[in-house]
Amino acid sequence: METKRLTSADVEAGAEIIAKGGLLGIPTETVYGLGANGLDPNAVKAIFEAKGRPQDNPLILHIPDESWLERYCEDIPATAYELAERFWPGPLTMILPRKAIVPDVVTAGLDTVGMRCPDCAVTWAVIGLADVPVAAPSGNASGRPSPTTAEAMLEDMDGKIDAILDGGPCAVGVESTIIDLTVQPPRLLRPGGVTLEELEEVLGEVAVDDAVRRLMAPEEQPKAPGMKYRHYAPKAPVTVVKGDPDMTAGYIAARMGEGSGILCFDEFKGYFRGHPVVTMGPVSDQAEQAREIFEALRAFDHMEVTDIWAQSPSDGGIGLAVTNRLNKAAGFHIIEL
Ligand code: TXA
Ligand code: MG
Repeated sequence: METKRLTSADVEAGAEIIAKGGLLGIPTETVYGLGANGLDPNAVKAIFEAKGRPQDNPLILHIPDESWLERYCEDIPATAYELAERFWPGPLTMILPRKAIVPDVVTAGLDTVGMRCPDCAVTWAVIGLADVPVAAPSGNASGRPSPTTAEAMLEDMDGKIDAILDGGPCAVGVESTIIDLTVQPPRLLRPGGVTLEELEEVLGEVAVDDAVRRLMAPEEQPKAPGMKYRHYAPKAPVTVVKGDPDMTAGYIAARMGEGSGILCFDEFKGYFRGHPVVTMGPVSDQAEQAREIFEALRAFDHMEVTDIWAQSPSDGGIGLAVTNRLNKAAGFHIIEL
């Protein structure tokens, strides 16, 4: 990830904020995070307050490399090291049995903890200097789309945090993949920057948690508590239309109402005359769609729209993560053509 504008003095100031129990906006390759000392229960509580995050939704710990796993986890399977070797630093969070040193407030009382090594030089340096794991959820207010720029994070967090390290736009754009290694077969809890297909190359069979592809009923408990909450949503309701892009564009153009906003592929920008249009990259460029999806969803909150129609990206590779975020933003209100 780009680390423009940042100096070693910024890194030192950031590490000091963490060490003193403050809140720091940190860049990562996925999305910006709201970081604090993961061993300091009061600092971690402040994260929940700043985000308005429900207490039962655990946080993940960010570490500089896999040698730190043993500090915070036990019964670590060999597969954890195989995954680290292949994908760390990078957009993969592993759920592992935790040690008692990890405060309850981090794990929301679970006996497991999520561990991630972000691919971002600035954030490594901050963690290394502070010499503590950094607990960090995405840097949005709870329920809002995750921030992929420092500006987007400030929209939600200005006045609530001590500082933000601006590392420029995030290279991946959707949050890390979460894999639960405490069950057999390992279970994908959240699709992200590392694809299901890539995980299968290392792990063989991988189960996909139900919460990835459908709406959970209120009484159901997804394994990643965060997957049950309405998330990523702009203020106006979203309808996703799935199918061949020419068909979905035609379907939307025929049905959009007076106040409708449209989220579409670049190629279809000109289809929806007189309507606010936000694009999410070309049909065939999934990496670009991942980088743009959250900014696109955020953009509608700055427009006068009563409802939003969205073309659905395809869901292979990183597309599984992009469609998961969009479908969640739509409360799984999806029309299949
Ligand atoms: O890319 C990312 O993962 C970003 C950057 C900042 O690192 N972080 C992020 O954190 O997305 P957050 O808190 O927004 O999402 C973490 C998800 C939540 O859905 C949470 O419920 C789940 O991980 N989670 C955390 N600990 C867990 C655990 N022990 N077992 C199951 N799920 C867990
Ligand atoms: Mg989040």
